[in-house]
Formats: sequence, C-alpha cells, structure tokens
Amino acid sequence: MRYTEDIIEEVRARSDIVDVISQYVKLQKKGSSYFGLCPFHNEKSPSFSVNRDKQMYYCFGCGAGGDAYAFLMEYENYSFPEAVQHLAQQAGVELPVVEESREDRARRDHKSMLLGIQKQAAGYYHYQLKQDCGAQARAYLDSRRLTAETIHQFGLGYAEKTGAGLYRYLKGKGYSDELLRDSGLFQVDERRGMYDKFWNRVIFPITDVQNRVIGFGGRVMGDGKPKYLNSPETKIFDKGRNLYGLSRARSSRRRNIIICEGYMDVISMHQAGFTNAVASLGTALTTGHASLLKRYTEEVLLIYDSDEAGVKAALRGIPLLRAAGLHARVVNLSPHKDPDEFIKNEGPEKFQERLDGAQNSFMFQIQMLEREHDLSDPQGKTDFYRAVAQRLLEFTQDLERDNYIEAVARQYSIAKEQLHKMVNSLALTGAGVPKSPKIRTTSETSRKKAEGESARERAQKLMLAWMVEQPQIFGQISAYLKPEDFTTPTYRKAASLLYEQQEREGTFTPVRVWDQFEDEEERKKVASVLNGDLPAELHRGEGKALTDTLLRILEDSLQEQRKNLKPGDIKGLQENMDKEIGLKKLKMDRGQLHISFE
Ligand code: CTP
Ligand code: MN
Repeated sequence: MRYTEDIIEEVRARSDIVDVISQYVKLQKKGSSYFGLCPFHNEKSPSFSVNRDKQMYYCFGCGAGGDAYAFLMEYENYSFPEAVQHLAQQAGVELPVVEESREDRARRDHKSMLLGIQKQAAGYYHYQLKQDCGAQARAYLDSRRLTAETIHQFGLGYAEKTGAGLYRYLKGKGYSDELLRDSGLFQVDERRGMYDKFWNRVIFPITDVQNRVIGFGGRVMGDGKPKYLNSPETKIFDKGRNLYGLSRARSSRRRNIIICEGYMDVISMHQAGFTNAVASLGTALTTGHASLLKRYTEEVLLIYDSDEAGVKAALRGIPLLRAAGLHARVVNLSPHKDPDEFIKNEGPEKFQERLDGAQNSFMFQIQMLEREHDLSDPQGKTDFYRAVAQRLLEFTQDLERDNYIEAVARQYSIAKEQLHKMVNSLALTGAGVPKSPKIRTTSETSRKKAEGESARERAQKLMLAWMVEQPQIFGQISAYLKPEDFTTPTYRKAASLLYEQQEREGTFTPVRVWDQFEDEEERKKVASVLNGDLPAELHRGEGKALTDTLLRILEDSLQEQRKNLKPGDIKGLQENMDKEIGLKKLKMDRGQLHISFE
C-alpha cells in the first residue's frame, strides 16, 4: 500500500505541525518557535521545539527531530501509511483509495476483526466483574489491595464459572466460529464444541502500545493450577513484541522503564505511583522487547524474582538490552520476592530507594560470575579474574573500559594496574570477544586528528545552519561555495538539496531536505542543522565569522581534493593549484568578500 509523493506532500502541507504536536505536548511560544517538554526523553525544562515555518520539530536535549509524520510514527508508533491516514483525516484531505491486493485487504480485515473480538471480550469480562457472579473476584482483587480506580484503569475483569458466556455473547454479535477460533479465546472439544478458554478466573487484558486489547491473562482465585492462563499467540498477539503495561508506561514521564515479571507486579507498581513499570508476560525478554523499549527510554531497570530463575532471566536479558543501546540496572528487592510483595510490606518510599540503588548491570554480571568461582582457591581466583578481564574487553571505548576496570578493581580489591595489564594482554592475544576492540591509548596525534575532523564538520554545519536561518545570504555564499566543497557526505548531500531548491525555486523548505535522508543517525544530524542547534555564535552571526567559516570550508575542500588526486592527474592538479591561488587571493584581500548578514 503506497501513497504518491504528491499526496504525502499535500497532506503535510495542509497540516500544521504545531497543531498536531499540541495535541500531545503542551507548547509555549518563544521567539519564532514553540517550546515544550520533550515526550521522547525525560526532562525538567523544555528543550523540545516546534517550528511552524519549517514544519519541523527538534529536541535540543535528545536530538529527536522530524516532520509531523515522523512525530506521529514515533509517538503513536504508527506505520508511515497510518501516519498519513491520521493526518489526512485531521486535515480533511480525502485519500485516494489505494490499490490493495485482495490478500492484503483480507489480511487487514481479518486483523481488525480479531481486534474487535478482543475489545468486545474485554468489555464482557469487565462487565461480569461488576455483576453478582463477580462477587468472589471483586473480593479477591480487594484482598490484593487493588483500588476501584486501578481495576478500572487496567480494565480488569472476570470470566464466570460456566465457561460458555463469552462464546454466547460473541455469537450474538454475529462472529463466525472460524474467526472466534482464530481469536485464541476458545477451546474446541469434539463433544462440547467450542467453549471459553477462560472460566472462573480474574482477567487481565493485555494491550499493545496503542492501547488496543490483543490478548488476556487469567488468574485463578486461590491456589489452583495453572496459576495463570494466557492467550496463545495469534495474528495480533506477538508475545515477543509486546509488554504488559507499556501503553501506560510509555507516557509516565519517568526517566527509565522498569521491567518485571508479572501482571500483579505491574499493577501494584502503577498503583503505588511507579507508572513506568512493564512486564514481559511469562516469556523471556526478546530483542523485540528491547528495541520496543528503546523507543521510549534510555534506561531500563530490571526486577526479577530473587531466586535462581530470576537471576538467570536477568543475565539473559542484559546483553539484549545493551545490544539495543539501552543502559540497564538491576534492582534488588531482597528479602522480598517481587515488587507487589515489597510495596505491600515496605511501602513506596522504600521501593524508590531500591530503584535508586539499582546496580549497574555490568557489576551485576561480575557479581554473578563471582558466584561460579571459588575465590579462596588460587586457580578459582585466577579463572575469575580472567573471566572478568574478558568481559571488560567488550567495552570498545577506552574511557568507559577504564572506568569499569577501576570499579571492578575497587570492588574486588585488585590492584588497578594489575587488572589493566591483564585486559591488555588478553586483547593482544586476541582471545575472547568476536568483534575484538583494539586497545589503543589515545595518542596525541589521533586526538588532534579527531578534533581537526570535528572542527571541519563544525564549519560546514554552521554554514548550512546560517543558510537555513538567513536565506538572504544564499546568493552571496553560493558565489564562492559549491555543494561539492562540503567534505562531510551528509552535509554535502544536504547542501546540494538546499542549493537545488534555492536555485530552482528561490526558496527553501527544510523538511524536504530532511526527508531525503533515511539513515537514523543522518536524520538526526540533518535535523539538528535545519533547526539551528548551534552554539550562540550562530545567532550573533557577524560578517567576520561568516567569512572565516567560508574560507575554512574552502580550504578543507581544497585539501580533501588534493588528497584524492590520482598520481598523474595533471589536469586535476592544475585545477587544484588554480583554486589554491584563488583562495590565497581571497584571504589576502578579505575586503573583496562582500558577504554579510545585512
Ligand atoms: N506466569 C504465567 N503462567 C504461570 C505462572 C506465571 O504466565 N503459570 C507469568 C505471569 O505473567 C505472571 C508472571 O509469570 O504474572 C510471574 O509469575 P509468578 O511470579 O508466579 O506470579 P506473580 O506475578 O507473583 O503472581 P501473583 O502475585 O498473582 O501470585
Ligand atoms: Mn506476586
């Protein structure tokens, strides 16, 4: 299913990003932009800006940025076509009926029917909870100290004893047996036919991030087995990509997300004010979960039961989270078994203290490693240190690795230098880590080089940002500077798109430049430039700074060109030398450079 560029452009043009984002973020006008608290990271003072002229948003804190579509995709977790449909509807643009294959349509209909069934079922269970037959379930929830408000918020319900009610109810709504079978809510029995999967259980609806019910968990009231019964995976319920409670946790505005094991844990935490809790629903943490979490947070707090299974689960989860770029810390609740129990016994303040004291996930791994070795035995001790050194090698950044070496040395009273040596020699033998990081001490020259590169980039970034902020200088600049002179590929591409628009149309629409980038990192970089995320000198914008920057870019460009000259390319060399002479002249008589912001 695809919409044409024209349609996408029209819908975007007819929407106003300030209106769109105002529906989610409280914005205040400040200068030419609107500012608010960033919904994509936690912050106390507003660094999230929305610009009406540019039709873009950008967060000076976390670098999130883009157009209205990007915002909806990020915030609402929409696919691109969904974001187009949503905006089109708001803007009153009628979308053409896009050709959809019969299979696609059938699949979509099937999915939305299944979603409809789950929603009806959730309503049915919730209603039963309030009826006479739900008395025992209400008493059970009460015994677990859930308030009426919590029960309502989580849409808890009750599946009554007969095990026939839901089937009858949904048949009454006209659903076919085939569809009901695909919903995962029924069992089929030769003798009895179809009957409800859940009966005489308290019901926990499971929602996706968009808060659509996709499945259920059901708990016995008391000690029966199994304690929990869950919906099977269906076309709409993928356990590896959904987390219980995430639809609420994602807007909690706390700085991290807590992952725990169970339904009741999530609910107790939310009720106690820890609205950033989610659970992985009786399955191990997957990479799908990790990348889902990464959309909403930078840091995850792991809470697993303090038994062996819990430790195993944490150890399995940590590398997945790290691979997704998340920081992880491990919360210790001992002597209590789980968050629900802890909060009941110790209260929210004590719970908060445990969260604050959560252990760095690396140190947790090391501590668990220690348990596998007998440190009183010289061999055991050596093996342990070697294993630790191996782990330390996984840090690719010198500074980070050094910090951990220091922390481990302190914790286990090893001489720091000793551990350092061990890590280094392990690195030299190439033992261990697959994508083995080279241990390099940051030498003076390599540091200089890195700085040189970034100064070079900075000049290009500054120039681009000026051209965006002060379009009137384009004519003056373009007389001297061509897109090819931008040596950083991302900026070169941005510059050529900007030049193209300016030369063809005499104006410039930032979002159309940003749109041409697909890579996430590049997008961020470009969004930052287009939104003037620059130090104060940008706004001071004196003619001298502009001239200096221009000369600097020209010089870098010249250098780069020379570096890439093929031996024997006389013509290229000649050109390069001509340019150099030109640049020298320019520099000597800066007066002839009539460029300014006026
Ligand atoms: N679970 C499950 N099936 C079971 C047992 C557990 O799916 N037979 C899942 C549920 O998601 C449950 C989580 O694993 O919430 C944790 O299980 P457990 O620690 O046994 O339960 P608690 O969450 O402590 O449940 P409760 O407090 O209601 O006893
Ligand atoms: Mn429990």
